[in-house]
Amino acid sequence: MSRKISDESIIRPLGIGDIGTVELMEQECFSAPWSRDSLISDIVLNPNARYIGMEKGNRIVAYAGMWVAYDQAHITNIAVTTGERRKGIGTLLIERLIQMARSLGVASMTLEVRVSNLPAHAMYGKLGFYIASVRKKYYFDNGEDAYLMCKDDVQSGQGLST
Ligand SMILES: CC(C)(COP(=O)(O)OP(=O)(O)OC[C@H]1O[C@@H](n2cnc3c(N)ncnc32)[C@H](O)[C@@H]1OP(=O)(O)O)[C@@H](O)C(=O)NCCC(=O)NCCS
Repeated sequence: MSRKISDESIIRPLGIGDIGTVELMEQECFSAPWSRDSLISDIVLNPNARYIGMEKGNRIVAYAGMWVAYDQAHITNIAVTTGERRKGIGTLLIERLIQMARSLGVASMTLEVRVSNLPAHAMYGKLGFYIASVRKKYYFDNGEDAYLMCKDDVQSGQGLST
């Protein structure tokens, strides 16, 4: 099902036809981008994964995904193309994932984020995620630590604007 944001933007599930665009955005947005094979195996083949994208003018400009297992969900990734940042799109996609998780009976959500990624910390914090612990040397490209961030109030709907 697609969700209409404005006349030219929708949020919809990602599929095999989006892999090329997502691969390019991975390379644009991350120092350790996922490979094409990893994207296919998660976005297309993993039955426990849910990936959504924002399409604007027939172009994917942002995407986000999570794994869901029983009453837990883990956000795997989110990226907004450079020219579309700071317009609320990242927030909208994470809110959408939280709503999907909520409807699937998820109680709590987690994610890992680089300790240096201040924009992402701020966005997640506004959505009710808190830093639960540090995972030392989590990222293989530069040995950077990750924060494990959690949100325990998924069923309350707190932190959602819609
Ligand atoms: C992190 C990211 C997804 C945020 O997407 P976005 O659409 O720009 O975020 P939003 O517009 O919804 O911003 C929400 C809030 O996050 C914070 N924020 C976002 N970008 C910020 C920045 N560059 N500097 C400081 N705070 C920032 C602000 O508090 C912002 O609210 P405000 O605009 O009202 O002040 C985007 O910067 C991105 O794609 N980064 C590269 C990939 C990445 O790091 N992904 C996260 C992996 S864990």
